[in-house]
Amino acid sequence: MTDSMYALVKREAAPGLALERVPLPETGMNDVRIRVHLTAICGTDVHIYHWDEWARAHVRPPIVIGHEYVGEVVEVGSMVDNFAVGDIVSGEGHIVCGKCRNCRAGHRVLCMDTLSVGVERQGAFAEYVVIPKENVVQILPGIPEEIVAIFDPLGNAVHTALKYDLVGEDVLITGAGPIGIMAAAVARHCGARHVVITDMNPYRLGLAKRVVPRCRPVDLRTERLEDVMRGLGMREGFDVGLEMSGAGAALNSMIANMIHGGKIALLGFQKPGTVVDWNSIILNSLTLTGIYGREMFETWYKMMAMVQSGLDLAPLITHRLDFRDYEEGFRAMASGQSGKVILDWTTA
Ligand SMILES: NC(=O)c1ccc[n+]([C@@H]2O[C@H](COP(=O)([O-])OP(=O)(O)OC[C@H]3O[C@@H](n4cnc5c(N)ncnc54)[C@H](O)[C@@H]3O)[C@@H](O)[C@H]2O)c1
Ligand SMILES: [Zn+2]
Ligand SMILES: [Zn+2]
Repeated sequence: MTDSMYALVKREAAPGLALERVPLPETGMNDVRIRVHLTAICGTDVHIYHWDEWARAHVRPPIVIGHEYVGEVVEVGSMVDNFAVGDIVSGEGHIVCGKCRNCRAGHRVLCMDTLSVGVERQGAFAEYVVIPKENVVQILPGIPEEIVAIFDPLGNAVHTALKYDLVGEDVLITGAGPIGIMAAAVARHCGARHVVITDMNPYRLGLAKRVVPRCRPVDLRTERLEDVMRGLGMREGFDVGLEMSGAGAALNSMIANMIHGGKIALLGFQKPGTVVDWNSIILNSLTLTGIYGREMFETWYKMMAMVQSGLDLAPLITHRLDFRDYEEGFRAMASGQSGKVILDWTTA
């Protein structure tokens, strides 16, 4: 092992990323060092690349970015006894404080003071990443590494989809981005009746159909949700809604098409000032819940168990590139003409 490594670095407060050699991160006594095999590009990384308003408010360069990955343990700190060199692992990207009321109660997903890997501390788009042992996730046998590389966003989808009982229910998903499509696959796997997914991007809707053959994609440019519901014989509205677009229009069309007493889980980040039809929520007795991150570590357990029992997301991976071709990967992600984009670091 040399003392430097390749990493994708946000060097300056400006658009772009640089592939550089940087010092190896140190492994503290409670840490695990992971040799990164594969990473996946997230919408968050695209924001950081383009240095948009969100990135300017949250990221302090210089920093190694990236938080979706799979790798192999190569070193453990002196206080680590639950991982060994050679273990295939991924990592929970939210590092919790361990001190707040929710952390102390064991509700780590509700921590008041999290740090995000690849946003607020050194990330995984590198040959090596070091994280606290509490965040390391041992991968159950039989799961392809490509799929483990997308466990972070799959965890968002699983966390959202499992918020409410889906068995025999009619489920509406707004937004056929990678996470919306994952949520459709999870809803199918869990025994929903109708799984309807909306978007206005035909590439994304086609991808949804390839990944989840028994879902009903709705192209909002040419179809009305109300007509689709009638066609499916749905008279009263959706039982469960999963909002995965971050569009106010999508949220309001969901609210308008729920059964009375229906339940909505919101993952997509809404724009400030979004107007919501409160009286429909009140009059129709809807329940809305915000979803953040993943349950530590119940979401990871359920996600692995579902993959082991047939949840197949392989067709969602549309690009697999050498890490040196990261520019092509970021272009694909920004174009809207991709599913998940994998960067391979094993050639470093
Ligand atoms: N809460 C969390 O912890 C968390 C974690 C990860 C991602 N997110 C958010 O979840 C959302 C989904 O993530 P992603 O990576 O799949 O995003 P994405 O941007 O790739 O996909 C969003 C999709 O929504 C579609 N869309 C836009 N307007 C729409 C409308 N009115 N109706 C239907 N579809 C519409 C877009 O065409 C796009 O395909 C994003 O908003 C992301 O920021 C939240
Ligand atoms: Zn992500
Ligand atoms: Zn906390």
